[in-house]
Amino acid sequence: MSGKFNVLFLAPEVAPFAKTGGLADVAGSLPDALRRQGVDASICLPLYRTVKEGGFRLTRMIAGLEVPLGAGKLACTIWSGETSQGTPVYFIEREDLYDRPNLYRNPAGDYYDNFERFTFFSRAVLHFAQHAGIRIDVIHCHDWQTGLVPVYLKTLFRGEPFFLNTTSVFTIHNIGYQGLFPPEKLRLSGIPYSEFHPEGLEYWGQVSLLKAGIVYSDVITTVSPRYGKEIQTAEMGLGMEGILRKRSDSLYGILNGADYSQWDPAVDPHLPVRYSAEELKGKKECKTLLISEMGMNERMADKPLLGFISRLSGQKGCDLLLRVAHRVIEDGAGLAVLGAGEEHYEKAVAKLAEDHPGRIGVRIGFDEPLAHRIMAGSDILLVPSQYEPCGLTQLYALRYGTIPVVRATGGLADTITPFDQATREGNGFRFESFEPESFFSAIRQALSLYRKVRIWRQLAVSGMKADFSWDRSAESYLEIYRGLLTWDH
Ligand code: ADP
Ligand code: GLC
Repeated sequence: MSGKFNVLFLAPEVAPFAKTGGLADVAGSLPDALRRQGVDASICLPLYRTVKEGGFRLTRMIAGLEVPLGAGKLACTIWSGETSQGTPVYFIEREDLYDRPNLYRNPAGDYYDNFERFTFFSRAVLHFAQHAGIRIDVIHCHDWQTGLVPVYLKTLFRGEPFFLNTTSVFTIHNIGYQGLFPPEKLRLSGIPYSEFHPEGLEYWGQVSLLKAGIVYSDVITTVSPRYGKEIQTAEMGLGMEGILRKRSDSLYGILNGADYSQWDPAVDPHLPVRYSAEELKGKKECKTLLISEMGMNERMADKPLLGFISRLSGQKGCDLLLRVAHRVIEDGAGLAVLGAGEEHYEKAVAKLAEDHPGRIGVRIGFDEPLAHRIMAGSDILLVPSQYEPCGLTQLYALRYGTIPVVRATGGLADTITPFDQATREGNGFRFESFEPESFFSAIRQALSLYRKVRIWRQLAVSGMKADFSWDRSAESYLEIYRGLLTWDH
């Protein structure tokens, strides 16, 4: 590559600063991987309360930066910090918008002003870059919260010499979150109403910020090849399939990677005991300690332990989990669940532990260290998603010697192949139809292999040695960026 190019990542969540799911893991580690390939990558996100309380070292960079919102202007402060690998991170601070207990919602529902919060963020980033003279070749936007940035570049900021060579990439992490708002809100963004039409950012009478990102960006990516195809179908495109098919020449499915500096049992600071493919002993100890941490009966240490670590939403197959849990217990296995999300699922999952004390351990809430301990202490990880753009937990499970049982959809199907006892090929167990019976039968296959101690161990060890690191995917992104730079726009 000749000369470095500058890529600014815009994401509504970035680990370890703010996280509700896998997007944070991606936005926190892909820029580091790109830097290793010579890209000048940096990251920008809102300064949420979790950032303030996280004890990160931040420096105030700009105070009183004025950004238009509606008829007026709001001032914000820009802070800078860095990831553990040294990638610059910029934070947009505006207390009334971002200093809240959660990132997007309270238990009753989404924050009423999410349009304002993320429109402000999107516009502030552009003003900030211009003000600070941060040259951007590619602005890489993630999910609906950043969907207006490509629109700004093609409308309000079109004539700005500073952004003349700035191109945009928009990554869809989940087509199910479409950023829908009433059209009156558009006024706040300053984007002209002439863009509000079905070929623009209108979606059935509403404004969709996800659609905005899809329509106005130069390149669209999503997080696995199979999901890239699925979202172009009527069954799985959730209404966006038409517009995606129209742009299929500019749509790429690139598999996410796992960040092994964060997710590797040989170095994981959250584990009571470390272990590796060469020295697996510690895994058993992690299991015993996890069983006690989850308040389960210590006798369960001799039984297979199934883990489930997830946002509690329909997407993640919570209904299937609830339907099979008691049968899993009848089969003698234990179950450790960590999750947070929709209230009705939180209650139903919590009740599982009440119904099966000692055999099912449940923790409701978001707990990063516990997620690592469940990953290590379980024998099997359940990922029965209805749909899954990529999924990261199955990749982490492989590295932790925990065998994934997944539904064959999206990135789960791209990464987990069924284990075949005859050829010893495959790295986990899969089921096709979104039915409790199919799920349970895949679990049964896993449980029956678990009894074959030697084969099980081989399977675990080969999973631990598999390489799903970011480097290959980072190269694919690099190709896309390169294509854009040589592109006359
Ligand atoms: P998604 O982004 O759809 O939630 P992924 O599999 O891509 O799914 O990523 C989920 C990430 O969030 C993983 O890092 C997983 O460990 C983490 N996670 C999910 N739920 C919790 C929770 N309740 N506590 C801690 N970490 C969680
Ligand atoms: C989304 C998807 C998940 C994906 C993650 C990171 O939250 O639901 O499948 O792994 O984004 O791309």
